[in-house]
Amino acid sequence: MILFITLMMTSHCFLNGASAENMGLERIKKCSTKCSQGLGCKTKPDQLFPPPCQNPAADLNASPVFHNVSLSTVMSCEGRQKCSLHLRIKTVLQLTESIHGMTICTETAGMFTHCRILSFQKASRESMSGQKVEVEDDCTDIAPNQQVQIILKTFPDYCDITWTGTYDAPKCNNEDLRRHVSQCITGRLSYDVNPEKKELSVNVTDMLENHDYHLRLCHKHFICAGTGANALIKKEELVKRATLPYSRPLPCLCIEGWSAMIDAHRVRVCPFKDRLEELWLGINFDPLEEVLSWEPACPVAAAVALCQKREDGICEDLPLSSQNVSREKVTFTKVDPHPQLCMKFTAGSQSWIRCPFVDGRFQALEVAVKIQQGHREVKMLSQINATFSVGLCVKSATSPMCQTTETHYLRLEKHKSVGLNLTGELCKGNACLRIKRVDVKYAATDMHCFDKCDQSFLMLPATKQGTWALTWVIVPIGICLSAIITVALVLHVMLTVYQRRKERGNGGYCTSEKQTDSALNCVVPTIQTHPAHLGGVISAHSPQHGHTEKANLLSH
Ligand SMILES: *[C@@H]1O[C@H](CO)[C@@H](O)[C@H](O)[C@H]1NC(C)=O
Ligand SMILES: *[C@@H]1O[C@H](CO)[C@@H](O)[C@H](O)[C@H]1NC(C)=O
Ligand SMILES: *[C@@H]1O[C@H](CO)[C@@H](O)[C@H](O)[C@H]1NC(C)=O
Ligand SMILES: *[C@@H]1O[C@H](CO)[C@@H](O)[C@H](O)[C@H]1NC(C)=O
Ligand SMILES: *[C@@H]1O[C@H](CO)[C@@H](O)[C@H](O)[C@H]1NC(C)=O
Repeated sequence: MILFITLMMTSHCFLNGASAENMGLERIKKCSTKCSQGLGCKTKPDQLFPPPCQNPAADLNASPVFHNVSLSTVMSCEGRQKCSLHLRIKTVLQLTESIHGMTICTETAGMFTHCRILSFQKASRESMSGQKVEVEDDCTDIAPNQQVQIILKTFPDYCDITWTGTYDAPKCNNEDLRRHVSQCITGRLSYDVNPEKKELSVNVTDMLENHDYHLRLCHKHFICAGTGANALIKKEELVKRATLPYSRPLPCLCIEGWSAMIDAHRVRVCPFKDRLEELWLGINFDPLEEVLSWEPACPVAAAVALCQKREDGICEDLPLSSQNVSREKVTFTKVDPHPQLCMKFTAGSQSWIRCPFVDGRFQALEVAVKIQQGHREVKMLSQINATFSVGLCVKSATSPMCQTTETHYLRLEKHKSVGLNLTGELCKGNACLRIKRVDVKYAATDMHCFDKCDQSFLMLPATKQGTWALTWVIVPIGICLSAIITVALVLHVMLTVYQRRKERGNGGYCTSEKQTDSALNCVVPTIQTHPAHLGGVISAHSPQHGHTEKANLLSH
């Protein structure tokens, strides 16, 4: 059981305004309208049909009427979870004889404009005419997350003497609202993951009192789409806990909770949001169309490329195979289902490799190596009709890169084996075959490298065979021969064991034809780079060339 304790809100819509998070709002008992000492003011509703604005009086042309307008939010509460928000408007007003009051209008998206008139008592406004007076009003109700447009006008309404501004009401992520404004109270979720049972046990705290509570699991795409797992915690239940089953720990799998009331805000927690590796499953291959595809189970910003996995584990990108992905299915057409051909997923700075063909199920090509009469014969057999390029390359002491000397193109028909006409070359040593399908868009390249097959020890050019060959060259012939015989006898026993083990392994298969023919065929899937050695080793039964091949095994 892994224990996760989460903070309440992780969904994106609640992440902004973090600075306001811990700021408590000013509380008021009752909304009010206040004017500077001496100026009597009272509010009255707007006229139903306000007259059109009039041209400003002569005393209004000199300077602006509204100064230093400030907007803020205050809260009034009738109970612990029953607070409401009010917009507080403060302004400094340049009072003149023609101004009898002011109008405050507010407008929210899709709603009618709502206005109230603050009228100044006649006696006080006349005595204070020409002065700057302060007006404060907090009787405009606002809702969390609302954007309000505010228009201040003079009363009577003089054209063009207005102040307009917009105000964003605090959002439900504000800690104060989250605790005390009912529509922002979402409850807090904490959970335990039981990976064996694939269950999430969810505890709910700080939920809206006297309301039932909903919980569900959903997959977050454009919206959060329910997975079907849900629970209702009744308000009477003392333990606010429920268990929800999940099928895969996907990064977009979220627990959502909300109070059973209209327009309730929801809390969303995504327990597996860091488990990106869960996404790199579900790679599909259509062997007839040779289409490799993958669809992200969750939206993800990643790059997908094809690559060939080398023996050292590094996966080399195939040229022009990279695609960007977010939500859509990714397809690669005409792909060679080679065991080393893999998909590389890169998200951020991390990469993951998935090799869908590693089991060799769809592998097209088998290369058989047979040694006969001092020649190495290479036969190719394909499970499907396919065209291959077969390059012969040679490694030299000066350049470790294999230099291609000739390239052939072979069209192989399904299940018809074809011999390679390069057999003479392959016995020179340091030669490799580079085989690749050319009738597909994305293919891996196989390398089959060979040792010499028809040389005797004493003829070995020391430079090519390294220290092992050198040692042998200086040993006198007599010692050499007796040593060879001893080694051969010991190795014969060892090799029989080795060969049997090899036959059992899934790396390839060998057909022994001891009864009829001393030559052995060893067929190895092309992923391996040692088939040539294996073929050579087993041909130890061949009388002429056994020693060399056994000795080769020793050196490995
Ligand atoms: C208006 O605001 C400015 C700058 O904040 C300040 O200097 C000025 O005193 C204020 N005016 C009134 C009447 O409060
Ligand atoms: C949930 O609540 C139970 C007791 O009601 C407690 O034992 C468990 O530890 C809680 N789990 C979490 C994740 O808070
Ligand atoms: C994928 O996205 C990266 C950056 O977002 C961009 O540089 C690259 O060109 C894109 N590749 C493709 C194949 O669209
Ligand atoms: C393979 O090729 C042969 C000859 O070209 C053809 O007769 C056969 O139908 C092909 N098989 C498939 C599966 O394409
Ligand atoms: C191999 O080459 C010989 C002559 O160079 C030719 O007669 C033979 O048909 C070739 N075999 C194959 C399988 O290409």
